[in-house]
Amino acid sequence: MEIVICKTKEEASKLAAGIITAAVQKNPKIILGLATGSTPVPMYNEMAKAVKAKKVSYKQVKTWNLDEYVGLPGTHDQSYRYFMNKNLFEKIDIKLSNTHVLNGMAKDPVKECAKYEEQIKKAGGIDIQVLGIGSDGHIAFNEPGTSLNSRTSVVYLTPSTIKDNARLFFKGKENEVPTQALSMGVGTICEAKKIILLAFGKNKADAVKGMVEGGMSQFCTASALQAHNDAWIFCDEESASKLKLRNYYAWRSATKLGL
Ligand code: F6R
Repeated sequence: MEIVICKTKEEASKLAAGIITAAVQKNPKIILGLATGSTPVPMYNEMAKAVKAKKVSYKQVKTWNLDEYVGLPGTHDQSYRYFMNKNLFEKIDIKLSNTHVLNGMAKDPVKECAKYEEQIKKAGGIDIQVLGIGSDGHIAFNEPGTSLNSRTSVVYLTPSTIKDNARLFFKGKENEVPTQALSMGVGTICEAKKIILLAFGKNKADAVKGMVEGGMSQFCTASALQAHNDAWIFCDEESASKLKLRNYYAWRSATKLGL
């Protein structure tokens, strides 16, 4: 795990977007795994700027998203499909048919999850997986207590995630947040060749501490990234504030990135 500690989330987002832009330039047919939530939005804006400036094209890029709420169609303004269209896909030159988000309305959700895994495998696997982290240490919707070997499946949200997401997406109304989702598993995520996890703000400090300096445990599913050999964690100063070895991590990653 490499921990990149930047002063601000804007700085971290620019750095992470730069890595993705360079990877797409190098491999225009790259397979990306993408996340929703408030965290990746500044990075998506930077990626869109690079497309606008004609530095890069996503015409041949394919994407698979991490998760989707059960019971929300892609047209619903709180669905993750809708979020991705608005926050990234409509701002870059990607073909919508090359973008994949789990179908929260699938008649057979178990089959939908199996199909998703098959599609990713057929595409050759995910080259770069973008992640956020929940305040309880989850990645995708893999809540505390989920096996670190889990595959894409139907999952239940914890009350703390429902609360966090209501704040952001459902005008604070917790009872409007679906209680179930379809989510890539921890095992599925860890098969990505490279992982870029973004974590910003004070309320992520405990989760970041657990992910980086806690033991590997199903009670902080992000800790599974400790066993990945190309996982990059982009923090701002607030989210990194509880790390014991933060100065060492910052120095080491800056050296590796040539900063
Ligand atoms: C989103 C996802 C979630 C979020 C996490 C953080 O697709 O899978 O794990 O990354 O809940 O959300 P934000 O960024 O809103 O704090």
